[in-house]
Amino acid sequence: MSKKIVDLAIKRGVDLDSLPKHLAIIMDGNGRWAKTKGWQRLLGHREGYRALRSALLNADDLGIKYLTVYAFSAENWKRPAEEVAGLMKLIETAAREELKSMHKNNVRVNVSGRIDELPQGLQDALNHGMEVTANNTGIVFTLAVNYGGRAEIVDAVRDIVAAGFEPEDITEEIISAHLYNPQHPEPDLMIRTAGEMRWSNFLLWQGAYCELYVTEDPWPEFSGNHMIDAVLSFQTRTRKFGAVVE
Ligand code: FPP
Repeated sequence: MSKKIVDLAIKRGVDLDSLPKHLAIIMDGNGRWAKTKGWQRLLGHREGYRALRSALLNADDLGIKYLTVYAFSAENWKRPAEEVAGLMKLIETAAREELKSMHKNNVRVNVSGRIDELPQGLQDALNHGMEVTANNTGIVFTLAVNYGGRAEIVDAVRDIVAAGFEPEDITEEIISAHLYNPQHPEPDLMIRTAGEMRWSNFLLWQGAYCELYVTEDPWPEFSGNHMIDAVLSFQTRTRKFGAVVE
């Protein structure tokens, strides 16, 4: 049976042989979206969870191999305590509720960030998800939780110093090898919703040559067509990595 998103992508001119291998998403605009409806911000995050469920299915069906999403930044602790607690609970609930279907779909669950600072229930849910799906061979789905790009580089440098490297041994490859998920390819495409033209401390090291795509629409409205728009835009880019490409 052909997948709906694949049919749509082909119809809209996506080249399925040159998809981004690693897609990263900054899921922004949940709060503003809720506000336009006169709702609490947490209801926006709840709709954001629904949008994320369908984005994971669509990315997988399209053939994207790695999806990394910014679920909670190291700076998000500055939000009102009620919102922080609600987000922690929502991510934990999602991790538990989705596990069965993710496992059935051969999804491999991963995390990125200072996970040991999260509430114990959330840590347990994330660790359980990683354990259960550890041998899956499908899309690698990484939740960046309590993640900061600068914090990740600080943690890498701490590990490198603790391992006793000499200054002259430190190269870009050594730093890359000490990031949270060194086995993942660098993101090729980063989508941000809700119109802000900011990078917001997401995958700072790995995203150095990532193509950016911003949609004005808020995350709860993100659909298969938005993903296809982003991929179509990606496929018009000439990636030069600092070189000259004729
Ligand atoms: C940014 O929107 C979004 C977040 C800080 C959290 C992202 C969380 C979800 C999408 C919920 C579901 C996540 C999982 C992993 C189940 P914002 O609140 O900053 O929006 P605003 O800029 O409009 O205020």
